Amino acid sequence: MRIDILTLFPEMFTGFLDGSLLGAARASGLLDVRVTNIRDFAEGVHRQVDDRPFGGGPGMLLMPGPVVECVESVQCEALSPGHLVMLTPAGRRLDQSVVEELARHERLVLMCGRYEGFDDRVRQTLHPDEISIGDFVLSGGEVAAMVIVDAVARLVPGVIGDAESARQDSFSGAERLVEGPQYTRPREFRGLQVPEVLLSGDHRRIAEWRHEQAVTATRQRTQPINQPQRSMP
Ligand code: ADE
Repeated sequence: MRIDILTLFPEMFTGFLDGSLLGAARASGLLDVRVTNIRDFAEGVHRQVDDRPFGGGPGMLLMPGPVVECVESVQCEALSPGHLVMLTPAGRRLDQSVVEELARHERLVLMCGRYEGFDDRVRQTLHPDEISIGDFVLSGGEVAAMVIVDAVARLVPGVIGDAESARQDSFSGAERLVEGPQYTRPREFRGLQVPEVLLSGDHRRIAEWRHEQAVTATRQRTQPINQPQRSMP
């Protein structure tokens, strides 16, 4: 799979892309990740990429020219232009099913914004898939792009040694459950014991117990906290 990242801060990705899982996936050729600096497509001696919003308001906006030209140039580098994603807090919310959807593309092109966002004509010209990683504002799309690259890479066949491990991850499978608790050695830690069923060797009982634990964990995390309890009628 190929992933292109378009950003004004390419250096933010160096440590991230060389890290253990992604570094190995890139070295083995399973994943081809390329980072392009949007500023390379800016004009003039100052290579300006941002400007003040028309009509006033705080902050600076990314100008449409350098962004659109950067996208078009990168898309022409391969046979497939790829699935274009704009990272923005206004986008649809990322979850594991969106990650699975993104992982089905053979190529992704991720556009990272900075400042107060993109001039809207970037969106009107390119019609990207707008994605948010949550209802909070980051100082740029770079961290959001890293979240997508990490989550998508895990689903590329061969990237995780054990395919079963990705299938058992939280939110995978039809029920979209979070994983329940897991234990390793020692059998006792500060008086806390590993549940007996996990030591039983009975795989059917273990699978049933894990499923029950996952259902409980999922129910607990979707229950609102710090909310006044409604009394039953
Ligand atoms: N850029 C700024 N905030 C963001 C968010 N929450 N998700 C995606 N991109 C962003």
